[in-house]
Amino acid sequence: MSVIPIMTNPLREGLRAELTAEPCVVVIFGATGDLTHRKLMPALYNLTIEGQLPAGSSLVGFARRPFSDDEFRAEMLEAAKRFSRQQPYRPSIGERFGEGIRYVQASFEDPAGYERLEQVCAELDSTRGTRGNRLFYLATAPTAYPTVIERLGAAGLVRRGEPNGTDQGWTRVVVEKPFGRDLTTARELNAQLARVFDEDQVYRIDHYLGKETVQNIMTFRFANSIFESVWDRDHVDNVQITVFESIGIEGRGPYYEEAGALRDMVANHMLQVLSLVAMEPPVALDANAVRDEKVKVLRAIHRLNTAEVARRTVRGQYGPGVVDGEPVPGYRQEERVAPDSTTETFVALKLLIDNWRWAGVPFYLRHGKRLPKRSTEIAIRFKETPQLLFGQGGAGWSQPNILTLRIQPDEGIALRFGTKVPGARVQVRSVMMDFRFGASFGRQSAEAYERLILDAMQGESTLFTRRDETEAAWAIVTSILEGWQHLPPPELPNYEAGTWGPSAARDLVVRDGRSWVRV
Ligand code: BG6
Repeated sequence: MSVIPIMTNPLREGLRAELTAEPCVVVIFGATGDLTHRKLMPALYNLTIEGQLPAGSSLVGFARRPFSDDEFRAEMLEAAKRFSRQQPYRPSIGERFGEGIRYVQASFEDPAGYERLEQVCAELDSTRGTRGNRLFYLATAPTAYPTVIERLGAAGLVRRGEPNGTDQGWTRVVVEKPFGRDLTTARELNAQLARVFDEDQVYRIDHYLGKETVQNIMTFRFANSIFESVWDRDHVDNVQITVFESIGIEGRGPYYEEAGALRDMVANHMLQVLSLVAMEPPVALDANAVRDEKVKVLRAIHRLNTAEVARRTVRGQYGPGVVDGEPVPGYRQEERVAPDSTTETFVALKLLIDNWRWAGVPFYLRHGKRLPKRSTEIAIRFKETPQLLFGQGGAGWSQPNILTLRIQPDEGIALRFGTKVPGARVQVRSVMMDFRFGASFGRQSAEAYERLILDAMQGESTLFTRRDETEAAWAIVTSILEGWQHLPPPELPNYEAGTWGPSAARDLVVRDGRSWVRV
């Protein structure tokens, strides 16, 4: 009987990342919240399973709820058990990681809490070899960020700059979204951070950048020569970025009432994706070279005045309906949402990029909750052929080429092109060339948070947003928010849950003589 080697597929080689991180203490502020349970702890556990978390790495939870070390540890291991992508749960791995879990109960204002934190970290340095390395993770409500940042600085827990050869270790801070709620508040938060940390110690997280398929946008563009030569206004008719979700707001009423679809998804994830699609090739693959190019795109996006906001943006909100065969309430009936709320759960935009590569090419963005399916993709729609050779005489219509980068689910890349239908007559039909990550690599991708936490531990900030990027993104979004303030809101709700969003979203592209690509 022949033995089939595990790595039969050459594409699978090289999938394991090189380990260059040093052990550190990850301190999570707001450690009893949903994010820690659903994402952060499972990510740390998965990294341990994969052998990527340096031995000795430890976790300190800092929050108000009364927990002992043992209770917090049990809670974290339960979270790993429930939410990890790696099933079944492996108790030996959990226990190994659990030995380095501690808890500090304190309010975020209380200086004594930070003193205790320092003692706990020092104890971990000596027992687990974490060498003074600290990764502070802000997973609290954003209103607590300024306090935590200020108190960390005041308590002397932040060593500025990278370690200088002495045995002091490094300090970094990961900041969760939402990063401000408009340009002014984002600038304030950046200024607060800069008072306590150097910019290269700050890791503003956008979990979309941790997704394999989002990272692949750059690889696809710059590791292949054939696509880049048609990636411009001469060849591309329009670009569509779609993020559809079938879920609602999942019990996050108070947060979502403040945010809405524009702040929740466009200000960060969607503009990040757009910048990767539209950027110029970076001079190198290092963090600043990549982010220099992304920020140029964001700066070149045309800011909208009120008249443009009226013409180029669409807001929607779902009413009651049926999703996946189940009746679901409307947004206004969700828990802790105002019965007359005007918060948008759907947004569609037409953005223009004022630069040489993209002048005149619309970038259409659409995102909504409670739509019929979950789908995130980027469609590059190319121009028609210059002569419609096959358009007449009943030969069938040759549709334009569309390149689709499927971010999730069903991750892959598809190219639509016209081909001759076999037979004596000349007939053209659109067909698909389709690449699927799952079929080619046959391996479950790491969760975005695994990649990002590991990168932060390694001091690798390419996949985190820089100060100027966050401000450039907010400048665009703030121009839309201001426009909306001056315009009467549409009659809401204007789409039923389980349908494709308000009809005005269709009009946005039809008015330009175009259509949305079907997802
Ligand atoms: C979060 C938003 O940042 O991203 C959520 O706050 C949204 O509203 C989520 O559902 C989508 O993430 P993903 O990875 O499921 O596409």
